[in-house]
Amino acid sequence: MTNLKILFTVVATLAVFTFVANVIPQVQSAVPREIVLSADMPPEELAAIGEEIYAGAGGCTACHGLGTRAPDLLGVVGGVCATRVPGQSCKDYLWESLVNPTAYIVEGFDPIMIDQSIVSSQAELWTLVAFLESQGGEITVNADDFAAALAADDAAAAAPPPVAVTDPNQVDAVALITAQGCLACHALGGEGGMVAPPFEELRGQDPAVVREGIVDPMATINEEYSAFAGTMPTIFGDLMSPVELDVLVDFFVGGSGAGAEAPGDAAEVPPDSAGGSR
Ligand code: HEC
Ligand code: HEC
Repeated sequence: MTNLKILFTVVATLAVFTFVANVIPQVQSAVPREIVLSADMPPEELAAIGEEIYAGAGGCTACHGLGTRAPDLLGVVGGVCATRVPGQSCKDYLWESLVNPTAYIVEGFDPIMIDQSIVSSQAELWTLVAFLESQGGEITVNADDFAAALAADDAAAAAPPPVAVTDPNQVDAVALITAQGCLACHALGGEGGMVAPPFEELRGQDPAVVREGIVDPMATINEEYSAFAGTMPTIFGDLMSPVELDVLVDFFVGGSGAGAEAPGDAAEVPPDSAGGSR
């Protein structure tokens, strides 16, 4: 998924260069045809790309289209979007529902959707808005919206990558949990969502299993919450550094220090690699 995001970013960047400079043929030939994003694309083409992201890498169908977890969007959302928030246009409402989903909660549903800008680039998000508008309404996403998004993605791709945290003492577990959006679904200290196990239930569990629960949520399903299985984003292993994951797992299981081993695991780990060598 992250690879795809990077690919999109690269492709979007190339598209900008191509659009502006118009002459980088040898690079251009390496770009897969079907996902080149450019500011002069007709709205229908944006919507078609948005549809692919909706059904694929965007992960939307983990919740939407199943009836009970999330509202049906296909064929309807383009018709209701302009009526949701007084004074807000359809386009602005849809954009906000992707990047700030809790600003307006559709009646009868839990606020379990997280900020989709951690999953998709700005340009991808606009293709989604175009697709959603086309579902019962008219596409108003225009070349200006899209060009600005491509430029923003370009700037983000050019920025130096954040420095990876290597000192566990610099990681605040509660701040990390809040920033990653876990509390949309899980509760901590009685605050947060109810569709996933409260984090207190992880106390005393096997750290390896808890870690797997974070980086590969579908590997084991907590049966009590199986009605919402598949909704947990699968990208947290990529979003957090190994040290951040260590601290989080340790916080959940109630260990005494980052990288603490469960009894019995210690024998299998060579002493010099203990404590996270990546
Ligand atoms: C974890 C489950 C989940 C995922 C994944 C998810 N959504 Fe949602 N979404 C919801 C729920 C639940 C609501 C209704 C509650 C609310 O308004 O937040 C909602 C609301 C919306 C709305 C507002 C609908 C309306 O009728 O006003 C839009 C638009 C939307 N989602 C689009 C998307 C798109 C596009 C994606 C993929 C990029 C996506 N969602 C991914 C759960 C999810
Ligand atoms: C969109 C909802 C959602 C979000 C956001 C979410 N989770 Fe989950 N999570 C679930 C659901 C539902 C389950 C239970 C089903 C399953 O086991 O996959 C679960 C299960 C887990 C488990 C396994 C628990 C067990 O009892 O086996 C862990 C650990 C976990 N989540 C950690 C996290 C962390 C840490 C975050 C934030 C970085 C997070 N989750 C964000 C929905 C979510």
